[in-house]
Amino acid sequence: VKICGGRTRVVPPRPDGTVDVSAVTASMAGTKVLVLCNPSNPSGEVLGREALEEIGAAAREHGTVVLADEVYSDLVYGDAGFCPFLRACPDMVDHTIALHAVSKAFAMTGWRIGWAACPDAVAAKMGALMSQSTSNPCSISQWAALAALEGPTDFFDEWRAAFHRRRDLVVDGLNAIPGIECLRPDGAFYAFPVVRDLLAKLGMGEDEDVKLAGRILDEAHVASVPGSPFCAPGHIRLSYATSEQDLEKALERIARWVADN
Ligand SMILES: Cc1ncc(COP(=O)(O)O)c(C=O)c1O
Repeated sequence: VKICGGRTRVVPPRPDGTVDVSAVTASMAGTKVLVLCNPSNPSGEVLGREALEEIGAAAREHGTVVLADEVYSDLVYGDAGFCPFLRACPDMVDHTIALHAVSKAFAMTGWRIGWAACPDAVAAKMGALMSQSTSNPCSISQWAALAALEGPTDFFDEWRAAFHRRRDLVVDGLNAIPGIECLRPDGAFYAFPVVRDLLAKLGMGEDEDVKLAGRILDEAHVASVPGSPFCAPGHIRLSYATSEQDLEKALERIARWVADN
């Protein structure tokens, strides 16, 4: 955004951490590009077709380009299903940059391979920028990504089932801790509980989630990410991309730490 001389505006989520679709559409006037992350990091929320159509209609009205970051689209649980932005709004094809990567669905974080489906003119500009900044992704990673995309994907069902179990383990475990309230997200691998009551119990302000995450790390030895950098104070984000055993240990540690403080 800065390279283009632009200004970033963040549409804060609702108090429970979910996307405020009407606030997104209301902020579209004068917006050149909307970054839409679905399924969401940090909340794991999955926007359905109706919400996407609403956002698409506003983008169309104001000539806004939608950058649809859909890197978690293979990690959606239960009956939720995933609707790509361009399936909901096919007439936005000339105004959409759809992003994907191997890092999440193929557990290839660190291989640094992602891609965009977008109009040729945008792809050419991206190529010019990348060739002058990073040269290119390393060829070993490119071949590995190709193998991932062309290889069998029958492991997805098993992975999804494992993530589904972990999600329920973490959400149920968090909701059993006084002062923590967690929605059950449909996708990604994050829980994004509201911790306002816990902050109040500890004598901390709603916007002191950074300090809270630091204390949980130092004193309970569990790593979380505070909500404030995501413009969602009063939350913390926990990743469940780890074993059920480790998740149980983490939940026990947080529960004990909350009881002791
Ligand atoms: C929504 C979203 N998009 C993109 C990325 C970037 O993924 P990577 O650079 O590992 O491919 C992440 C990583 O956390 C993410 O959460």
